[in-house]
Amino acid sequence: MSDHELRVSKIRDGTVLDHLPGGSALNVLAMLGIDGSEGTGVSVAMNVPSDRLGTKDVVKVEERELSQAEVDVLSLIAPRATVNIVREYDVQEKKQAERPDSVVGVLACPNSSCITNADEPVESRFDVLDDGVRCGYCEEIIREGIAEHLDVG
Ligand code: CTP
Ligand code: ZN
Repeated sequence: MSDHELRVSKIRDGTVLDHLPGGSALNVLAMLGIDGSEGTGVSVAMNVPSDRLGTKDVVKVEERELSQAEVDVLSLIAPRATVNIVREYDVQEKKQAERPDSVVGVLACPNSSCITNADEPVESRFDVLDDGVRCGYCEEIIREGIAEHLDVG
């Protein structure tokens, strides 16, 4: 994107999540547990033009460097996310979100009889399949609309 098209400023230090599907930015922030109460800068650009994706979202989180594990969780809703670690205005590291083997405490099981929905201190765990995710307790599978099953916040 050329400079005259920049929607949000460059950041000095932090993480830029780029190539997020158009409209996914708020779910991405929810998955990361970022709601602005941290008091540090968060910029969101939604549905901006992208050569690769048609439209994309971009999220810039200042003063925080996301780990590979935090980023990998995002691959469930943003499979083509690129993650740029910025230090002193320069992109120091560029990594891809990669599909994790499993995700813990991120999704709520849609099966109301699942033990994770009972009044028990059991954290949700889903195994990540090629075409969806499967509850580690009741084996319920979610294939579509994973973002609708986020259990974060
Ligand atoms: N960025 C930023 N602040 C900086 C440096 C970079 O906000 N100090 C942002 C850029 O605006 C861009 C992303 O981080 O959205 C990646 O930067 P860069 O690698 O320079 O851009 P591209 O080469 O276009 O990235 P890619 O090849 O991954 O599309
Ligand atoms: Zn379940």
